[in-house]
Amino acid sequence: MPNAISGFSKLSKSEKIDWLIDTYFSDKEAARNLVEQYWNTDEHLQKLHDEFIENTITNYYLPLGVAPNFLINQKLYTIPMAIEESSVVAAASKAAKFWLDRGGFKAEVISTEKIGQVHFTYDGKFETLQLFFESIKSKLIEDTKNITKNMERRGGGILDIELRKKTEDLEHYYQLHATFETLDAMGANFINSCLEQFAKTFQQQAQYNLEGQLDIVMSILSNYVPNCLVRAEVSCPIEDLKSKDISNPTLFAQKFKQAINIAEIEPYRAVTHNKGIMNGIDAVVLATGNDFRAVEAGVHAYASKEGAYKSLTHCKVEKDIFKFWIEIPLALGTVGGLTTLHPLVKFALDMLENPSAKELMQIVAVAGLAQNFAAVKSLTTTGIQEGHMKMHLLNILNQFEATTEEKEKIIEHFKTNVVTHSAVVEAINNLRLTTND
Ligand code: MEV
Repeated sequence: MPNAISGFSKLSKSEKIDWLIDTYFSDKEAARNLVEQYWNTDEHLQKLHDEFIENTITNYYLPLGVAPNFLINQKLYTIPMAIEESSVVAAASKAAKFWLDRGGFKAEVISTEKIGQVHFTYDGKFETLQLFFESIKSKLIEDTKNITKNMERRGGGILDIELRKKTEDLEHYYQLHATFETLDAMGANFINSCLEQFAKTFQQQAQYNLEGQLDIVMSILSNYVPNCLVRAEVSCPIEDLKSKDISNPTLFAQKFKQAINIAEIEPYRAVTHNKGIMNGIDAVVLATGNDFRAVEAGVHAYASKEGAYKSLTHCKVEKDIFKFWIEIPLALGTVGGLTTLHPLVKFALDMLENPSAKELMQIVAVAGLAQNFAAVKSLTTTGIQEGHMKMHLLNILNQFEATTEEKEKIIEHFKTNVVTHSAVVEAINNLRLTTND
């Protein structure tokens, strides 16, 4: 077991790499070469990436792909997606094309409210606390003026602060529950700065004007944003669903709806169903420099809002019309954070014609809906493995370091044969044997 190291963060980048390689790698040269191979040759760009986090040693690539032909509210988009899973971009592109010919996607932002809380304990009477809160509420807001003035100039800011009593769940526990409008910013820094100022003012004022002991526990935004909601939808007459893979549209619509119904009542299925939605959502969230962990946490909490984990998408088949939609909370930003800092994020936002946060919410929701449509369509028709394994084929070929010529021959072979890992290995071996004969 290696010894613990102290003062690691104070070492230079090359000292950190030296320590890492000396401690963990037997082939030191290969390890060092690999780390350095992923450095950007542009020193300025590399430094930018080094400084995003602490203890950076190199870059970790993910492919940035694009899914064209997304018609959303009658505007065409090419959607950037950063993701490692082989079939996701292909599935999104396929779903985009499918709905392009059927009126496209409709999306609307329902609400944009963000939430933050100051959590505190108080051992006195609730009525006393309530009177105190009412008397200093305007001062709480007043004291944040330096933080809020720019946001207010643009039309956002603090919407309200409420005192919430939670003592039935936890002894002495209360909250200042605040709501915010952060416009095109995701708003985490803005909200947290406001909350920390609320906490400071609240504590100071309590010292002189409140009987009883009040202690601040913490001040932090919530990633659960059920009032920052977006809805995206597709619909068409059932007969219009007819396509290459759908010979019987009525049967397809029924089976598709049944698959959604299952995800609405069966958590084991709902989790995988929603994971497929997040394939699309995370990829766009990541490509546009947003916080996918925040989105994931908030979306899954929303999927459980009725006390059981359920599908985020819904389907209706009524009067010969097929309708499929998603409603999810998304706290996204198109200014601040990585959006101006990371050149590829800027590129992705340029590709989307520099959307507002609301427009990005719509695009991301559509990506999730499209991904889910593609997955459920495959699952209820051909099965998922056909498309998955076709995309995975290239990964297997790369593992075997297949040449371009070998790849072409094997891809041709699998146009008419079922792709499995062992079948691909066998095909490579056979090809190499015959070529060597
Ligand atoms: C795989 O990444 C995602 C799916 O499992 C989603 C689903 O089952 O709906 C295909």
